[in-house]
Amino acid sequence: MAQNESLGLLGVESAHWYVHDLERSRRFYTQGMDFKEIGGSDPDLTARGRQQSLVFQAGDIALVVSHPRGEGGRAARWLAKHPDGVGTLTFAVKDVEKTFHLLDRRGATLMEDVQTLRDNRGGKLSWFSITTPFGDTTFRFAQRDGYRPLFPGMIFHEKPTGGQNRFGFNRIDHVTSNFRTLMPAIMWMEHILGLERFWKIEFHTDDAKDKLEKGSGLRSTVMWDPESGVKFANNEPARPNFRASQINIFVEDNRGEGIQHLALGVESIIPAVEGMLKTRAVQFMDTPDSYYDHLGKRLEVFGIGRIDENPDDLRRLRILIDGNKEHSYLLQIFMKDAASLYDDRQAGPFFYEVIQRKGDKGFGAGNFRSLFESIERDQKAAGRI
Ligand SMILES: [Fe+2]
Repeated sequence: MAQNESLGLLGVESAHWYVHDLERSRRFYTQGMDFKEIGGSDPDLTARGRQQSLVFQAGDIALVVSHPRGEGGRAARWLAKHPDGVGTLTFAVKDVEKTFHLLDRRGATLMEDVQTLRDNRGGKLSWFSITTPFGDTTFRFAQRDGYRPLFPGMIFHEKPTGGQNRFGFNRIDHVTSNFRTLMPAIMWMEHILGLERFWKIEFHTDDAKDKLEKGSGLRSTVMWDPESGVKFANNEPARPNFRASQINIFVEDNRGEGIQHLALGVESIIPAVEGMLKTRAVQFMDTPDSYYDHLGKRLEVFGIGRIDENPDDLRRLRILIDGNKEHSYLLQIFMKDAASLYDDRQAGPFFYEVIQRKGDKGFGAGNFRSLFESIERDQKAAGRI
């Protein structure tokens, strides 16, 4: 049963993180990614919520990062159970009452009635939250009419500190999550959120290898909201060697299902990656030389033909390329997951993807395998499989 009425999403407004080390996050976002730090929780909210929050921003990407101050707050409860991770995704909506009633009618688990707050300049913020099959991650829907702070109790720094968005981040391109069993989540996205199926893929590293070697596999389905373009890629492990699948390893390391990566769009990936590498606060997953040895052939097979970039730059920076039409492609690269970057399991198995789209709206079908193999190499090197 497809849902024909749309939720009225405008896009992903923010992601809310819970982290063990707030200073480490601050260094990562402001120094490594050149995000601005625009504000945080005011003292009253920090005391009431028993967590301190900082807000980082670049382009249309806003990230709230919270760390416990005392026991009993949501950050402390999250971190008692999980490593660092995304606890809430907030979506901007056109009409929050309409979204609320649609979700209620479809059987969503609403955590509260619509909350409304006005500021003294006539701004209004209305929101509510729901639970999801994305582990302990909740979704929040917010309608803002002239209300600037990201959440009630946020104060802006007089002047933003940190970076300047030199790397040209613009928006959250997609959200990728890992499940132990995918279908309940897909059905929920279809029947409750009213999302549509966009694309699916299934493969196993054994497909291309000596069968004696232990491979691992995944099934992935991308769901999207055609109106706003919001996309969720969703993975589950696949047999054989189900337990060794990196999707299963993620769920174990994360101590539950949840968001594996956020893809952040950039204007121009080559200078962005070059710049981030120089900060030394960001590291990317490696790609074998053989990928670049066969790049010309790949471009031919994909039908991309001519590209604007110098292939030597792609090889040097380990940037991946994919597409399926003449001069229509995407460039992407994946950061090391936080646990590997900091050599700290509590930092969690999450990572960021950096993506530049040049006409291609897909998910890098050809790169899916190379990302999967990169993660597998990293997990093997870290003794996690
Ligand atoms: Fe992705």
